[in-house]
Amino acid sequence: MRLPWDRWKRPDASGGAFPAQGAAWLLAAFFLGACSPSAPKAAAPQPLPGEVLSQGQGIYEQLCATCHFDGHGSPTAPALIDSAIVKNSPDEMIGSILHGRNGPMNVNGQIVNGIMTAQNTLSDEDIAAVVTYVRHEFGKADQLTTPAEVAARR
Ligand code: HEC
Repeated sequence: MRLPWDRWKRPDASGGAFPAQGAAWLLAAFFLGACSPSAPKAAAPQPLPGEVLSQGQGIYEQLCATCHFDGHGSPTAPALIDSAIVKNSPDEMIGSILHGRNGPMNVNGQIVNGIMTAQNTLSDEDIAAVVTYVRHEFGKADQLTTPAEVAARR
């Protein structure tokens, strides 16, 4: 005789596969749920602290803007917007601010030859903040430059 619950006991493949698949999905869902919120967070860059950006902006407007204007450059200084140095070389920026720079250089395909005076009366914190700000504002590069990196180049 075939009882109604006999069909749950049938040892055929489909009857057995369904619960196993269900368990696999549950497991996958669990791992996705457990991993996905933390994985992208770990890979994403840290947001830059607002107080560092505003400190850097203050220094830029007071000092750098006299030559570089609003970032597009001026007759006396090259553009910072989209400059490869601003995008990729915080170390070179720190060096230019600490020691000044002159002599011909290629900025975005244009040869410039001017004199940037050293701004080495600024503190390590101020230089770190202005480099962080300029890279964020003009280079679309969000990366914190630390006072320790500046101190190492003095
Ligand atoms: C006295 C004018 C002057 C001031 C002030 C000045 N710069 Fe410059 N800067 C220049 C000149 C001129 C050059 C190009 C030097 C050369 O021809 O070798 C330059 C080059 C640069 C470069 C590399 C080239 C580029 O366009 O990417 C960066 C970055 C830079 N300056 C950032 C700054 C920052 C940040 C400040 C403020 C802390 C600052 N400068 C202050 C005149 C100035």
